[in-house]
Amino acid sequence: MRSLKADDAAVRFAAEILSKGGLVAFPTETVYGLGGDALNPSALARIFEAKGRPRFDPLIIHIAGLETLEEIADLGPLDSRARLRLETLTAHLWPGPLTLVLPKQTRISGLATGGLPTVAIRFPAHPVAQALIRLSSGAVAAPSANRFGCLSPTRAEHVLEQLDGKIDLILDGGRSPVGVESTVLDLSSDPPRLLRPGGVSRERLEALIGPVCAGDGSSPRSPGQLTSHYAPRAPLSLYAGKALAALDDNPREGFLFFCSSTCNAWLEGLRARGGNLPALPVPRIRTLSSRGDPCEAAANLFDTLYALDGLGLTHIRAEAAPEESLGPAINDRLFRAQGAL
Ligand code: TXA
Ligand code: MG
Repeated sequence: MRSLKADDAAVRFAAEILSKGGLVAFPTETVYGLGGDALNPSALARIFEAKGRPRFDPLIIHIAGLETLEEIADLGPLDSRARLRLETLTAHLWPGPLTLVLPKQTRISGLATGGLPTVAIRFPAHPVAQALIRLSSGAVAAPSANRFGCLSPTRAEHVLEQLDGKIDLILDGGRSPVGVESTVLDLSSDPPRLLRPGGVSRERLEALIGPVCAGDGSSPRSPGQLTSHYAPRAPLSLYAGKALAALDDNPREGFLFFCSSTCNAWLEGLRARGGNLPALPVPRIRTLSSRGDPCEAAANLFDTLYALDGLGLTHIRAEAAPEESLGPAINDRLFRAQGAL
């Protein structure tokens, strides 16, 4: 399978592939997407096939301008409060890592929506994603470009590792800067429901539109939020910082600290107990953000999990992030990685 640097010619070539019903992996600011023409049912069917994803798990449709919104979503059923929320959110947060669930237009295939009467829509900020969408039909269905249940890709190499031979092209646009998937917010219910924590924090949403309720991720309304998801090959366990810092070292295990202060406390504990100190830096012991910044930690999350998973470790022991900013999005991914056990 070809992986091309995402210059103008490569993006044009990718758009041609999409218009013929083919599949292209492309960079977005959150993670890489596995794109197919949202208006072509056989392309949609190929996406499920390539990912090994169950058909009931609906896709996000990506657009590259607000003018396309009403071709995908039917705003008719929304009351004035819901419309105001939609206007506020799109004005402040689009393009960006926010996916909105809205009533669907009848022309949108039930294949894209898992048979639901609603559709998930996102306007990504990444310039390569925007150019690709504009040069194709204007509506690109794209789940994250990983095999179902596996780690989401933040680099073209991650996509190649998982989907080689199953798709037509990878556009390589470097590393995805946000590093966790978009926040999914259901605007078809009142109050709006947060179906997946992601690249836009709950605090930011609530500052703009008032209270949102936490969606029950396991409910059939967001079927993608299955417990076993985002799984590395090595078993992963999630710990509060203090609990992780109290563990003994094991040279066959990986340690994933949220911040340096926990890593330092762990080293201090090992020293106090007279244990062997690992000679840092070592690839199996990683810190997501030395200063403990949740946005920096989110940006490093999948990249670091891929790196740890390539080491053939017997176990990965990870520190939970604080429950603020992008912390809940990080913890959601780590919790589901753990659910794979
Ligand atoms: O950042 C992202 O959102 C990435 C990039 C590529 O844009 N895409 C992504 O897609 O994460 P995916 O398919 O891995 O996750 C889509 C999520 C799933 O949890 C799915 O269940 C939910 O969105 N979803 C899609 N349509 C829905 C709908 N109509 N109602 C409720 N949830 C929906
Ligand atoms: Mg995914």
